[in-house]
Amino acid sequence: MSLVDSLIERMSLTEKLGQLTMTACGQAVTGPTIAGDSTEAIKSGAIGNLLNLVGAANVHDMQRLAVDESRLGIPLLIGYDVIHGHRTLFPIPLGEASLFDPEAWASSARESAKEAAADGLAMTFAPMLDVARDPRWGRGAEGPGEDPFVAACMAEAKVRGFQGGGLTHADCLASVAKHFCAYGGVTAGRDYAPVDISERTLHEVHLLPFAAAVAAGAAAIMPAFTDLNGVPMTANKVLLRDWLRGRLGFDGLIISDYNAIAELIRHGIAADLADAAALALKAGVDIDMMADAYRRGLPLALKRGTVSMAEIDESVRRVLILKERLGLFDDPYRRGKVRESAAALEKRRGLARHIATRSIVMLKNDGDALPLRRSVRRLALLGPLTDASAEMRGVWWGAAAPEGHVTVLQGLRTALPESQILQADGVAIDGADTGGLSAALRLCESADAIILCLGEAAVMSGEAASRAHLGLPGMQRQLAEAVFEQAQRASIPVIVILFSGRPLIVPWLVEKANAVLAAWFPGSEAGHALADVITGRQGPSGRTPVTWPRALGQVPIFFGERPSGRPFDSHDRFTSKYLDVANEPLFPFGFGLTYGRFELSNLRLSRAAIALGDVLTVQVDVINRGAREAQETLFLFTHDKIASVSRPKLELKGFGKIELRPGGSGTVTFSLGAAELRFLGMALEPVFEPGEIEILVGPCADRTQLQVASVQLVA
Ligand code: BGC
Repeated sequence: MSLVDSLIERMSLTEKLGQLTMTACGQAVTGPTIAGDSTEAIKSGAIGNLLNLVGAANVHDMQRLAVDESRLGIPLLIGYDVIHGHRTLFPIPLGEASLFDPEAWASSARESAKEAAADGLAMTFAPMLDVARDPRWGRGAEGPGEDPFVAACMAEAKVRGFQGGGLTHADCLASVAKHFCAYGGVTAGRDYAPVDISERTLHEVHLLPFAAAVAAGAAAIMPAFTDLNGVPMTANKVLLRDWLRGRLGFDGLIISDYNAIAELIRHGIAADLADAAALALKAGVDIDMMADAYRRGLPLALKRGTVSMAEIDESVRRVLILKERLGLFDDPYRRGKVRESAAALEKRRGLARHIATRSIVMLKNDGDALPLRRSVRRLALLGPLTDASAEMRGVWWGAAAPEGHVTVLQGLRTALPESQILQADGVAIDGADTGGLSAALRLCESADAIILCLGEAAVMSGEAASRAHLGLPGMQRQLAEAVFEQAQRASIPVIVILFSGRPLIVPWLVEKANAVLAAWFPGSEAGHALADVITGRQGPSGRTPVTWPRALGQVPIFFGERPSGRPFDSHDRFTSKYLDVANEPLFPFGFGLTYGRFELSNLRLSRAAIALGDVLTVQVDVINRGAREAQETLFLFTHDKIASVSRPKLELKGFGKIELRPGGSGTVTFSLGAAELRFLGMALEPVFEPGEIEILVGPCADRTQLQVASVQLVA
């Protein structure tokens, strides 16, 4: 008999429910502060899994309670939100998405897993794969942006990175892909609100990245807090049991979100905790995170006959199998045994800097305001985000302390030791105080250049951080307007660095600034990364993974929409448009400038017609006509012109990069499998329809900037 079977045979109901329970450990500076009765509960086998506990010694102390003092000695599974780093922070996921580089995405996950595993952890509640098309929703910051293809690529890369060479390895974490599914579709961008989307959008957009995570071997999935078309995801049998487990064959763990099982009562589909617990278990949720619904509710549900012991055992088996796969039975202390070397930490910081540098998206650069000349003598560095270490961390700072993250001020002082750098906040990120304004303006007087660091506080995106106004918070606009006025009079260039967890709606700012960098939240190496780009040590190469609206009324705005029967025509009143704002976004998906100037030519396809099973090679020549070496990113889109179901105007199918010296030229090559040109037909089943497919390649999702060719699909 297997270890897992023999354990299940010997387990009491309390011990079984303990394995289905994950409880938070408060983390105090001096160590874990789990309540006394929880300590007892671990010893009695009534709690089998923990979250929010860090530090190898702390983890091992807790583990010892379970292994040495509980009857069956089953080790704990301990998870944590290692989203964009653990102690060394990488850019927030939305910022990292701007790299369009799966190997980089995998490498930061690999390093984060090593760091967290060295802290004793065995599981991360990541990656977050929610496609988000409404910037009001704060959680867009935690994910891949607006496009399902990007999200699927990120899913594969992140799972590969976190899980590394296999779960038994002491430097690997079990990856929990979340939040399944369509959480990004919350009504009006309000967190936790209901989700109402079509079956087509569900399958074409929101399920895709989860299918990729499962294919990559993700150990676990976390259902979203939200409902989907009336059925809360925590109880969504059709998607969890039938689609995920049945259709995709996912046999890993399903772990609820925080307190989500109890919330089925508030959703209005369960009368009490026993009811809620039964619904979740039957839908396929194995672990109850923080609702205590399984421990308190399942005994009653068993009595009522709404669940069976076999159903409980099935979930217990999955938990134990994961613990076994993680090597916890062989050696529960395998993670956190060896301290990481100083060299390993330094190397990680280097990677964090490299990735942060490449996550920065240059939105504007008029008159070559950037890069800054190294000879710049006096620099005025203004705004509430100039010297804000804690803010640089972004939405999920793991176990990172507020200090120690390089600020813009520190980064520039290091990069420009000869220059005089004067710094003032001027105003706070939020709030109405303008007392510091005039002192800040005085610093502009004899400056050669002004750098304005503006934007959101880190906690203005992420969970429970929806915003209805997407301008600059507080009095930052007043600061910026005053600076622009003064700078214009003295002809001083103004460079704006925007920090945010979402696209901000700031057309006025983009209009007035000489240069704008979207920095997102770059993490621990923020200041060095920004200094690298500002001084030209590294050229900017990030591309926005979300469309930037010019007005909130355009939201949701994304490149993958379907055509209208009345597309906009300025000569025809009855066409699809607003009376008061253009249809076009401020910046399209994929937009981002470099210090080069690229021209594309000679888009060519390896064949004129392809059948299912064929692979098309798409090539385009690129030349850098600019004066500096730079990296260009190109996107491959398709458009199925005539199909049985109206297809999106652009569908992303690939992205590629090329680095070119001034005057240098090269070729970017994409491979496109004909199978990827299938789509969901009327019955929502994949179909392959003969006909013409447009192949479009270019620097962003603005059709006017794309080279076009076409290929025939043949049966
Ligand atoms: C969030 C999850 C997170 C969990 C554990 C919840 O509030 O929605 O994304 O993994 O907490 O911290």
